[in-house]
Amino acid sequence: MKVLLLGATGNVGSRALPALIKHGHTVIAYVRSPAKLAPEQRAVLAGVVTGLVTDKPALKTAILAHNCDAVFHAAGLAQMWGRSQTGEYNTMFATVVAAIVEARKERRGPAIRAWLMSGFPMLDLNSAIPTRLIGDYMPMFPEHRQNLALIQEQEEEDIAWSLFCASQLTPKHKEARIPAPDDCSAANVVAGAGSPPEWRDTLAWVPLIGPYLNILSQAGGYATSSEDPLDFIAADLEEGRQSEFIGKKVGFKLKRKKAT
Ligand SMILES: NC(=O)c1ccc[n+]([C@@H]2O[C@H](COP(=O)([O-])OP(=O)(O)OC[C@H]3O[C@@H](n4cnc5c(N)ncnc54)[C@H](OP(=O)(O)O)[C@@H]3O)[C@@H](O)[C@H]2O)c1
Repeated sequence: MKVLLLGATGNVGSRALPALIKHGHTVIAYVRSPAKLAPEQRAVLAGVVTGLVTDKPALKTAILAHNCDAVFHAAGLAQMWGRSQTGEYNTMFATVVAAIVEARKERRGPAIRAWLMSGFPMLDLNSAIPTRLIGDYMPMFPEHRQNLALIQEQEEEDIAWSLFCASQLTPKHKEARIPAPDDCSAANVVAGAGSPPEWRDTLAWVPLIGPYLNILSQAGGYATSSEDPLDFIAADLEEGRQSEFIGKKVGFKLKRKKAT
């Protein structure tokens, strides 16, 4: 696909780039600090657009001018305990979504595919309490909630979205490497939509504190590398609008290593 990558100079975006290239996508970086792009990053990019993610006309123009059929939004950084003073994180998300929707309507083509960064607390608590989010019990990164509500209101014909509900992401490699290193692979993770993959409800029966116990006993196991889930997402983008993850909140877990 032709992907507009937002936040290509950040921790996530810089590691998304080699994964997208590995999976054969054409990537246009949309960045506010183009000087931060290394020569090897520039060498694999089909274009660089300088702009703010709060600038809807510029984003829409970038999508249309480069004929992008997908957007990966990794710009900004959610606050752990509250909102940024300017509220910029939510403004960026809303601006990206609005730019995608307007670009799709103007182009009159199929829905634009989008992977957007979100957080682990936006995944469903468990099948026993399907209306509850993990974030109802673990109120961290509250800015994701407004973004979730906004994306769920969108029309399928405009935006074919997936939310990457990431827990802590720790880079395997200090610097983002191009080409993507061989040890960074979708094969190292399991993905799940709705609830976190391999989530267990074993403590749900405990009165009142059952949900808290479930989260406390398991949440730590969802920290992943940055690169492996990004390889999964780049692979999923190859599926285009046939992806099973469209309209889904997606969590990841590292695969357990087999004993040798
Ligand atoms: N890292 C994690 O462990 C983790 C875990 C869960 C979720 N996430 C989510 O993943 C996303 C990316 O996180 P990250 O760790 O990659 O953050 P980061 O390293 O701080 O990168 C943020 C990126 O956004 C760009 N940016 C910020 N404001 C912008 C604006 N107004 N216009 C254009 N670009 C702007 C930055 O550009 P400059 O280089 O110019 O500053 C940078 O490229 C966030 O939504 C975050 O909440 C991250």
